[in-house]
Amino acid sequence: MKDSFGRHVHSMRISVTDRCNMRCDYCVSGDKLQLRPSRELLSLEEIETIVRAAGTLGFDTFRFTGGEPLVRQGVPELIEKIGRQPGVRRLSLSTNGSLLAPYVDRLADAGVKALNISLDSLLPDRFRKITRGGDLACVLSGVNAALGHDRFTVKLNAVIVRGINDDELGELASLTIHQPLTMRFIEYMPHGSWRASAQADNPTVSTDEMLDALSQRFEIERNVSGPVGEGPARYVQIKGAVGYIGLISPVFQPFCERCNRIRLTSDGYIKSCLLQDDRFALRDWMRSPAYTFDELVKRIRDAVLLKPREHSYARNIDMSTVGG
Ligand code: GTP
Ligand code: 5AD
Repeated sequence: MKDSFGRHVHSMRISVTDRCNMRCDYCVSGDKLQLRPSRELLSLEEIETIVRAAGTLGFDTFRFTGGEPLVRQGVPELIEKIGRQPGVRRLSLSTNGSLLAPYVDRLADAGVKALNISLDSLLPDRFRKITRGGDLACVLSGVNAALGHDRFTVKLNAVIVRGINDDELGELASLTIHQPLTMRFIEYMPHGSWRASAQADNPTVSTDEMLDALSQRFEIERNVSGPVGEGPARYVQIKGAVGYIGLISPVFQPFCERCNRIRLTSDGYIKSCLLQDDRFALRDWMRSPAYTFDELVKRIRDAVLLKPREHSYARNIDMSTVGG
């Protein structure tokens, strides 16, 4: 459907859980995940119903996120059921990759076409530090399992934070030279105070700065069409490489005019913009006698119509519940 600014909004990102087996610094604000009791999370049936309602409005693209989506039992089955709903065109998963290897066949059978895997460092100690305990070897075996399967478009996501992993841009980009994958570099969206300035102490590195650094090491072809995808990345390529490099710039070059998505949080809210504090509650109402399917469709439509023209700098980015 069209929102109030004429954008075609047809993609829903569904956080199926707030649980995660990692605690990435950039995603979790504070030391701990603020986990909701499980009764406060949407059931898989409730998620399926919301997708069906969104389908009647023309939503055809669904990405499953977390937390870590694969820590929740029944997610491949949920995806498979959703894939059978009329009009569903594209199913994808964003994962930290650590649990992925044994699931790839199941996910392919369920109809998943694209896997986006977080990979912020190729140095095991640094990786453990950024993710607060993650095991790089496990993630790399997930990446290899995904690449070994010809059904998936594989994209790796690195959130680049100054002084933390910006020195690895070249090594991460090199992964695209011989492998059919896309390495995407994402501007860090800080928790709290936002600054789109090029000051040397700003933890957010702009994608222009990243591209400059990459251009010093590689011959870069700009404005290539890139892999299949419907997200905010622009793509470049190392000359002669098999894969692509994607640049995602929420801070320095916001892509709101192209935004095509809303989000469903694991605890049952619709967020019409990632970086806005407003949310539309569905869960308690869906569990009340007042619930009807038609009203659910109307509530989703209203959330789309209230999508802001541009993102503001939300005070509480709760990435681990919203799913990035
Ligand atoms: P495809 O291109 O179809 O693979 O989708 P995608 O780019 O949305 O994939 P992914 O889930 O990997 O998103 C990559 C990252 O881009 C997210 O984790 C966020 O950091 C950022 N991002 C995606 N959508 C938005 C958005 O609507 N607003 C903002 N500010 N950032 C976003
Ligand atoms: N800034 C940018 N991207 C983020 N993500 C999570 N937190 C942030 C942040 N602060 C995105 C990353 C990660 C996905 C789960 O969410 O892309 O891979």
